[in-house]
Amino acid sequence: MQLQLLKTHILNYDLTNIDWQHYTRKVEVLHDYLHRDNHNTTGWMHSPLEDQSELFGRIHEVATEIKLKADILIVVGIGGSYLGARAVQNALTPHFIERKSGIEVVYVGQNMSGAYVQGLIDYIKDKRVYVNVISKSGGTMEPALAFRVFRQYMEDKYGVEATNRIIVTTDAETGLLREIASNSGYRQFEIPSNVGGRYSVLTPVGLLPLAVAGIDIDTLMNGAKSAATEFSASHLENNEAYRYAVLRHALHTQGYKVELLASFEPALKRFHEWWMQLFGESEGKQAKGLFPTSANFSTDLHSIGQFIQEGSPILFETLLHFKEISVDYKVPFDERDEDGLNYLAGRTFNEINAVSKEGTALAHSEGGVPVIQLELDKLDEYHLGYLIFFFMKACAMSALLLEVNPFDQPGVEAYKKKIMELLKQEKVKK
Ligand code: PA5
Repeated sequence: MQLQLLKTHILNYDLTNIDWQHYTRKVEVLHDYLHRDNHNTTGWMHSPLEDQSELFGRIHEVATEIKLKADILIVVGIGGSYLGARAVQNALTPHFIERKSGIEVVYVGQNMSGAYVQGLIDYIKDKRVYVNVISKSGGTMEPALAFRVFRQYMEDKYGVEATNRIIVTTDAETGLLREIASNSGYRQFEIPSNVGGRYSVLTPVGLLPLAVAGIDIDTLMNGAKSAATEFSASHLENNEAYRYAVLRHALHTQGYKVELLASFEPALKRFHEWWMQLFGESEGKQAKGLFPTSANFSTDLHSIGQFIQEGSPILFETLLHFKEISVDYKVPFDERDEDGLNYLAGRTFNEINAVSKEGTALAHSEGGVPVIQLELDKLDEYHLGYLIFFFMKACAMSALLLEVNPFDQPGVEAYKKKIMELLKQEKVKK
């Protein structure tokens, strides 16, 4: 299996304009920096290659218990503490069915809407519940508030048994949540100290909810392992993750402000959101960075398609495509042929969707939009694990090319601090 980065369909943008020699040298230096083992931020790069059998054994054990004793798992978390799990769960769960072979997994603590909280309380009324609260820092307002609500809910509903039905995933060493878990005797999973929120989907942050949702986490990790091996090459020519990073950087340097990640599979909508956070938080600092946004085609071709084709020339497009989607449907033959579509009878929707992807890439590139195509063989656990690692590695390199720290998020911290201050001021005024 090979992830291919195709760079065809680029109009008004000549790849020979890129100084590949310069980038090759730069990437090698940054690769050495990234792979030097004195960082406390790159644990995610190495963990897929390590023996994690003990951790996986524990995750499977707890997931099996949850699947037996609950109808629903409530995951409390925000940002990197929930986007990855939700992305993979949505990508691999059949439409209109809440679960694969696992149980339903829902998310709260990623907003402060009272209506959302009340809606969830109503929804779980007659269900057997487990809660997995996830926060690396243990002090983020949204999940902390939601946890306060659902912790009380669990205590009211289950009494002392609530202790066993609440699982805490937090930093291995620090934080309020860690203290709460220890004081109350909740079972804990650790987020390694050297893995930040948006790089943590392949730790218990993503793995426990995914195992409960019925996703094959071993195969997901095998995909990541293949990618970790493949993308450990330091030479630009041999490393597609670095090539993608360089393409984005070159386009950004030449004036493009926005990268639009698009795919033709609605199941990938949440995956786009994970990608947006990864790149947005890793690069958007010191007045630098591409604005990452996303679209689901063909749906959004009928909303923002016009802008992409003919609007301000601020964006380039990255088209994500999986050649094989396991579920498909054939266009039926209709004797009446009143709609004139019999020429498509017998072809599958996925085939037509793939043609539509080709047509869109051509039209957009002819409209002057550079189109990068990322193509994988199959939408399954293995390829998603591979793709997740590909994007994380590309993102780290891309941020380093911009000369910003891929692993901090001072802007997010600023907002977190500000709302705390305002809420405390409000209290004083009352
Ligand atoms: O990538 C990050 O570090 C952030 O997006 C965090 O995941 C997000 O702010 C949530 O933080 P925490 O897990 O500490 O509650």
